[in-house]
Amino acid sequence: MDATSQRLLMCRPTYFAVDYAINPWMDPSGPVDAALAVRQWEKLRQTYLDLGHTVEEITPVPGLPDMVFAANGGTVIDGKAMAVQFRDPQRADEAPAYRAWFEDAGFEMYDPKHVNEGEGDVLLAGDHLLAGTGFRTAHASHAQLQEVFGYPVITMELVDPRFYHLDTALTVLDERTVAYLPEAFSPGSQAVLRRLFPDAVHATMADAEVLGLNAVSDGRHVVLPAQATDLAAKLRVRGYETIGVDLSELRKAGGGPKCCTLRLRQGKASK
Ligand code: ARG
Repeated sequence: MDATSQRLLMCRPTYFAVDYAINPWMDPSGPVDAALAVRQWEKLRQTYLDLGHTVEEITPVPGLPDMVFAANGGTVIDGKAMAVQFRDPQRADEAPAYRAWFEDAGFEMYDPKHVNEGEGDVLLAGDHLLAGTGFRTAHASHAQLQEVFGYPVITMELVDPRFYHLDTALTVLDERTVAYLPEAFSPGSQAVLRRLFPDAVHATMADAEVLGLNAVSDGRHVVLPAQATDLAAKLRVRGYETIGVDLSELRKAGGGPKCCTLRLRQGKASK
């Protein structure tokens, strides 16, 4: 399997905290070790660098504890960047910060007309854009995604509040294959997934409950939470190399490796 070198955007969790609860993972009364979160995040960043990826960093903003989840900062495909609109007011100010970064970096900008939480809910799988809805990203935004990026958008209805973003329930492994938790999707979406990806890897609830599907694949190496041992074993059987990382602190906010990572896709020439 061929690995693709990726250009990634990350945000250091300098101001990480669990100050509010906007998903079932978050308990503002529980302890959070922000220094440990930074060390775990640095290991993730180093893992990408060791794999030959390029990591760019956006400056974290005080008072935005979830800004570390760069996947929610936008959707960037073929040199176009669609900014985001968060469902929750607590995260609203992250959107202009990320938008400014994309603009400075020279991407062609598009503004969202509806709630859209970026790559948390929008995943490019081969020639299809899989777009989650049900908890965060509005169904109405899917039409805009199709219009902006020109890929057929496939709506994925999420049904379990613990798997509130598409990237907590499904991982794109390469151009042809995904891994997912069937129970996280509506019956119709499960049928669509079976049709599109007959060879998909089915994760167990135990894997999903440690956010094992919140993984980053370059087509050959899959960076995933270390605790997702069954999923890692299944992926190795399929020929992927798995790299486990521990992001236990960030999981207290409901995030894993993929949430911390936004893929910056250039135009066709340098995909
Ligand atoms: N606390 C954040 C939220 O609920 C976590 C976001 C995780 N990001 C992701 N791409 N799944 O919005």
